[in-house]
Amino acid sequence: MAVSPPGTALDAARHDHTTIALHWLTALLVIVQFALAETWDFFPRPDRHLMIVGHMSFGIVLTLVILLRLLWRNQSGRRLFETGSDLFDRLAKGMHYLLYVLLGAEIVLGFLTRWTGNQAISFFGLLIPSPFGHFSRATGDAVDEIHDLNAWLIMILAGGHALAALYHHYLLRDGVLRRMLPWGKRA
Ligand code: HEM
Ligand code: HEM
Repeated sequence: MAVSPPGTALDAARHDHTTIALHWLTALLVIVQFALAETWDFFPRPDRHLMIVGHMSFGIVLTLVILLRLLWRNQSGRRLFETGSDLFDRLAKGMHYLLYVLLGAEIVLGFLTRWTGNQAISFFGLLIPSPFGHFSRATGDAVDEIHDLNAWLIMILAGGHALAALYHHYLLRDGVLRRMLPWGKRA
């Protein structure tokens, strides 16, 4: 993330509305996914079942949001700060790419968790059967475990990423967080 003195063109620049909407929708969905999965064990049936169906359904919504985000980013979306000249610029960019890669992997692992458990995915009740054959219990458990570990990794990195944004806002006092906020002046 480039640091710019207040009032410069860089400071005044903003992400476009679509990028901002997709970023916050992604953040919300990822947090909801994690919260549902880490708490459903504390709930009795049928609530737990509903939470798991919610997790799969929002997981599919997240898949579409990420696909849209990547399409928008690579074709029509505005790409800011491509120069990436200093170390922190490159670190921030690297973190964003890593988050995309881990989110993509988490989505694939999510589908595989269900299918290697020999069950259909439910999208708000609509069943999407596995295109694969039968899997052993050990395979299903291993995929579930990796999906869980990757979820923790995403949350830790996204947490660090959010702290970096707050550091920019409150300590460096530059426009990095502001340019991703839905409110405020547009340049
Ligand atoms: C960033 C997005 C996601 C996060 C953070 C996430 C997180 C988690 C976590 C922490 C678990 C619990 C694992 C365990 O304790 O064994 C889990 C389970 C699961 N997830 Fe995800 N997940 C995400 C996306 C998805 C997607 C896209 C799908 C599929 C559409 C999916 C399907 C599942 C299934 C089927 C389970 C196992 C449910 C069961 O125990 O029956 N997840 N997820
Ligand atoms: C699970 C939660 C989150 C995920 C997965 C996530 C992911 C991402 C990704 C992938 C980007 C890169 C966008 C791109 O260039 O295509 C990004 C940018 C950004 N994120 Fe997040 N984010 C999350 C939460 C947050 C939070 C809570 C904050 C603020 C406190 C935040 C602040 C920002 C800012 C300011 C940028 C733009 C940086 C720039 O303009 O250089 N994010 N986020």
